Amino acid sequence: MCGIIGIVGRAPVQARLIDSLKRLEYRGYDSAGVAGLVGGRIERRRAAGKIRALEDVLAASPLEATVGVGHTRWATHGAPSERNAHPHRAGRVTLVHNGIIENFAELKAALAAEGRVFESDTDTEVIAHLFDSELATGLAPLAAFKATLDRLTGAYALAALIEGEDGLILGARRGSPLVVGYGDGEMFLGSDALAVGPFTNRICYLEEGDYVAIRAGEAQIFDAGQRLANRPVRLVSAAAALVEKGEYRHFMEKEIHEQPDACQHTLSAYIDPVSGLATAPNGLDLAAFDRIQIVACGTASYAGAIARYQFERLAGLPCDVETASEFRYREPALSSKTLAIAVSQSGETADTLAALRWCKAADLTTAALVNVHESTMAREADVLLPTHAGPEIGVASTKAFTSQLAALTALAVAAAAARGRIDAAEAARLSGLLREVPRLIAQSTRVEAEMRALAPELAKARDVLYLGRGEMFPLALEGALKLKEISYIHAEGYAAGELKHGPIALIDAATPVIVIAPSGPLFEKTMSNMSEVAARGGPIILITDAAGAALAPAGAKVIIGPTCDPLLAPLVYAPPIQLLAYYVAVQKGADVDQPRNLAKSVTVE
Ligand code: AGP
Repeated sequence: MCGIIGIVGRAPVQARLIDSLKRLEYRGYDSAGVAGLVGGRIERRRAAGKIRALEDVLAASPLEATVGVGHTRWATHGAPSERNAHPHRAGRVTLVHNGIIENFAELKAALAAEGRVFESDTDTEVIAHLFDSELATGLAPLAAFKATLDRLTGAYALAALIEGEDGLILGARRGSPLVVGYGDGEMFLGSDALAVGPFTNRICYLEEGDYVAIRAGEAQIFDAGQRLANRPVRLVSAAAALVEKGEYRHFMEKEIHEQPDACQHTLSAYIDPVSGLATAPNGLDLAAFDRIQIVACGTASYAGAIARYQFERLAGLPCDVETASEFRYREPALSSKTLAIAVSQSGETADTLAALRWCKAADLTTAALVNVHESTMAREADVLLPTHAGPEIGVASTKAFTSQLAALTALAVAAAAARGRIDAAEAARLSGLLREVPRLIAQSTRVEAEMRALAPELAKARDVLYLGRGEMFPLALEGALKLKEISYIHAEGYAAGELKHGPIALIDAATPVIVIAPSGPLFEKTMSNMSEVAARGGPIILITDAAGAALAPAGAKVIIGPTCDPLLAPLVYAPPIQLLAYYVAVQKGADVDQPRNLAKSVTVE
C-alpha cells in the first residue's frame, strides 16, 4: 500500500506535500517523491528511502509549485530505488499510483512497440505512457484519462498532473481508496483521510470506478459510466485528521498505551447503554445463523482465532477461522446460514477483501469488523461491525488487535444470549465482565518496566518460542508475529501441548521460551509443558497472574499480570507481549514503527 497526496493550492505546496507524506509514511516507506506544476511545466523530485531523504533533495532543489502531487511507496513492481520512485512521467503526464496493474506487461509491450521508452520497472509508468498516448490523439484531458482507465486491469488510486493544464489534478479510484478534501479555495486528493487531515476536515470518499477533476475550489466527480456523481461530503473528526506521537518515542508505544481507551470506545458500540448487556450493533441478528466464518490476515486472523473459542464455548456456534489468502482460493463448503465476518484494521487488505467478496457472491450474510469505517470492506459488507481504536499508525498492530478482540468477545456473549445458551443473569454477568476490560488492560501495561528489563537478554536470541493453550495459543502466535516483525528475531508460536510432537527439538539454553499462561482450567497442563522445557535447559519467561506465579517452575522468570476471568485473559495478556516485542526492538535499534519490508496494510495479493 502506498500513500498519495495531491494539492491544488493558493500558496506553495511543497511543505504541505511533505507534511502529508510524513503522515502517510506508515503506508509504505521505501522511496518517495513529489511533482508540481511550475510555470506550465512539471518538475519532479524523488529519493530512495524515507521522506527525510526526499527532504534533503528538496532542500537542495526546492519545488516552487502551488499545484502538486506526492507519493510514498511500498514496492510491488521494481526494486525500491529512485528510478522506481513515484511520480512517474511520460510526455505531458506525471502521476502517482497506489495499487497494482495486472495487465501492465501486455500494455507495456504494446506501448514499446509504438516506440515508447521506459525508464523504470514499475507498472505505474505504463499508466503515464498510456495516458500520454491518449492525450496525443487529441482527446481532452478528462476523456483521455477515462480512456486510459478503461484499458487498465487491476487496482489503482491515481493522482495525475498534465503539462499545459495548470491548476488541474485528475484522480481515479478502483480497488484502492481515494478521498477528495475540500479546503478554503483549495482542493486535495489523498489515499486516506489522514493524508488531507492537516488541511481540511471536509472530505468525500470516491466510489469504486469514480474519477475526478479537482481545480481551485471545486471537484467534478464522475462515476464509471461517465455521469456526474454527487458524493456526500463528510466532516471527519479531529482525531482522524491529526495524529501525533505526543510524549512517546514511537507510535507503537503510544498505541499500546491507548488500548484502554480504544477498547472502551469499541465496547460502547457493543454494550447497550440502557440494559448494559452485550449486543450486536447495526441490527445484526445473531440468532439467525448456524455457523460463523471468519476471514482475516495476520494479527486480525489471530483475533479471529481467539474469538472462535468464545463463539463455540459460550454460544455453541460453530466457527471457522481461515487466513484470507487461503480461503479465497479454495472452495469452502458453507451453509447458507453462515455469517461471514471479515476482520481487518484497515478494511482494505486485498486478500481479506477478496474473501469477503467471495462470501457475498455465495449469498452469505457478510459483516466487516473494521477500524476504518469508510473502507471498502465497510462499504461492501452487509453489516458494519466497527472497532473504535482510532487511527493506528505503527505497522505492528496493537490497539486494533485488542479492539477487535473486545468487539468479538462482546459478539460471542451477545450470540450466547441471542441463541438462548445463557440466561439473563449470566448475560448480565458476562456483560459486566466486558466493562472491566479497559481497567484491566490499563493494569496489564504496568508490567512495562519488567518487559524493558528483559529486553537486553532477549535481544541476543536468534530464535524465540511462544507457547500457549486454549485462547492463549493464538495469542502465542500473535506474540511471535509481533517479535519477528519489529525486531527481526525468528519467533514461532506453538500450542503448548504440541511442543513434544517436534518443536521440543529446538529447545536449548539459547532459545528462550515465552509461556503465556494465566491461571485457569488449563494451567496445570501448561505447567507440564514448561517442565519439559526446563528439563531440557530452555530459559522460560512465564507471563501469568499471581496464582500462576505461585506455581511457576524454579528458574523461570515470572511476569505477573492482573487476575481476571478467563474470558478476558486474551485481551488482558495482549499488552505484555506487545511491550516485550516493543522493548526488544528498541534494544536492537530497529525501526519500530516502520519495520523493513512491511507496510501497514497490504492491498496487493
Ligand atoms: C500486524 O502487526 C501486521 N502488521 C499484519 O499482520 C496485519 O495485521 C495484517 O496485514 C492485516 O491487516 P488488516 O487488519 O488491515 O487487514
